[in-house]
Amino acid sequence: MALLDINNLYKKFGGLVATNNITFSVEKGERVGILGPNGAGKTTIFNQVSGFIKPDGGEIIFNGENIIGKSPEFIAKKGIVRTFQIVKPFKGMNVYDNLKVATLSPKMKEEIKNETERKKWIEYIIDICELKNVAYTMTDLLPQGYLKKLEVAKSLAIKPKVVLLDEPFAGLTHSEIEPISKVIIKANEVSGTSIVLIEHRLKEFMQLVERVIAIDYGEKIAEGTPEEIVKNKKVIESYLGKGGEEIVNS
Ligand SMILES: Nc1ncnc2c1ncn2[C@@H]1O[C@H](COP(=O)(O)OP(=O)(O)OP(=O)(O)O)[C@@H](O)[C@H]1O
Ligand SMILES: [Mg+2]
Repeated sequence: MALLDINNLYKKFGGLVATNNITFSVEKGERVGILGPNGAGKTTIFNQVSGFIKPDGGEIIFNGENIIGKSPEFIAKKGIVRTFQIVKPFKGMNVYDNLKVATLSPKMKEEIKNETERKKWIEYIIDICELKNVAYTMTDLLPQGYLKKLEVAKSLAIKPKVVLLDEPFAGLTHSEIEPISKVIIKANEVSGTSIVLIEHRLKEFMQLVERVIAIDYGEKIAEGTPEEIVKNKKVIESYLGKGGEEIVNS
């Protein structure tokens, strides 16, 4: 049994089937990518796994427990946390305090015994996420690259078992992507947190993930290593186009 098993996840919005019996699993410590064109249903998978949208069918087995249809708070407390396509920093606060809010979540309230421990934990997150030089900067003043990093840091601050990252590279330049990519790998390696990543930035995506789930029109069309996926006929037809392999290998 994997850490997270998603079986036949089904969601309909009116007449539109947004996820049609999506099945895949995530092992402990793994970095998995979800690939597919706009509107394929990627974010809808995250919305269901994190409890923001109630599925119409299927199972989400996390650590042996079916968590389907549970609240975001319940699921976060179990250890699955997600980020959003649009960054959501707490405004009027600096980076340190943003992370402090994350440590006041129900999950961390139980794990952190006192203020010394809290400070130590926040400083550790700031350190591994390379946010030291902006720790006391107000989020309103931060460039997009740092806001995206903060988003990742906030999710790691609750000591999750699985982090769902929805387009952490969107809107960033290549030089802004590299530091975030490094932070994601470091967090994954240091803590053994599993990462599930949605991205359209193909080159960086393929370098980061170990396994890819490709979806189109709400259905899984392929699964494999990045090397296998860039050669997959269905994925090339639906998403990558003929130049896909060159983009990834360039
Ligand atoms: N809350 C909702 N109500 C109605 N329709 C929705 C809702 N959320 C998503 N959809 C529809 O479901 C489909 C899948 O959307 P989703 O956001 O999951 O796509 P995506 O793969 O994340 O796309 P993108 O790459 O553009 O972010 C789309 O057709 C979208 O319009
Ligand atoms: Mg999306």
